[in-house]
Amino acid sequence: MTLKHLWIAAAAALALNMPSIASASEGHGAALKHADIDVTDQAQIRRGLTVFTDVCMGCHSAKYVTYKGLMDYPEIGISRELVDELRGDKPLTSGLITDLSPEDAEVSYGKVPPDLSLIVNGRRGGADYVYSLLTGFEHDPAGKVPDGNYNKYFPGNRIAMPDPLAWLDHDAADTEELEKQAQDVAAFLAFISDPHQNERRTIGKYVVIFLILLTLVLYLLKKEVWKDVKH
Ligand code: HEC
Repeated sequence: MTLKHLWIAAAAALALNMPSIASASEGHGAALKHADIDVTDQAQIRRGLTVFTDVCMGCHSAKYVTYKGLMDYPEIGISRELVDELRGDKPLTSGLITDLSPEDAEVSYGKVPPDLSLIVNGRRGGADYVYSLLTGFEHDPAGKVPDGNYNKYFPGNRIAMPDPLAWLDHDAADTEELEKQAQDVAAFLAFISDPHQNERRTIGKYVVIFLILLTLVLYLLKKEVWKDVKH
């Protein structure tokens, strides 16, 4: 392929992508809220895990995460005791699987709730989207969508998931707690979507330090080599 061909291919790829870029920026839901999450914050991840198992697992699974796997990341400090408490009599090697069968979900909600193992990577806006979605239940301004299924961040606004944190009916005093639960579970889901991100960040830091030291050594070496040469 010549350079000219490459240019043509690149332009064609860009042109093909254009409609998707345009439609994405049209925005089907409201602009997302920013989730204040920290995937290195042990306490937040642990709180998010309990929101997940207490609330979300009523309908959703995270099948790529096993109970045993939860203990693989010492940096989030999930103990064997907590894992045993959460799993009950399920085996350690079982994934975080909901007891709701797809058939029953279909009957109750008209849709099978998606697996949440990779949802943060799979949705535009990632953790911000999950957090916004959980706090985005409202009364439909047009009065068409029943309460609990109108969500201002969901594309098309009608969602088959009934308001899981009861955001719509909450007392004003609980707002802070619900915001926190939504952010915590978004943090947990962000963590499991990419559990090695903390490790990568640590390695990244060492790589940068190594490169700085290497530059220094090479600089000193250069000075040493050239010191007797008159410029
Ligand atoms: C009562 C059942 C139920 C519970 C509990 C529940 N969900 Fe859902 N969820 C659903 C259903 C059904 C859908 C599919 C919605 C659709 O496509 O219209 C869904 C969809 C989703 C989606 C994907 C939305 C999209 O863009 O496709 C996310 C993210 C989500 N739920 C997160 C959560 C979290 C986090 C919790 C716990 C706080 C939770 N859900 C609790 C039933 C539930």
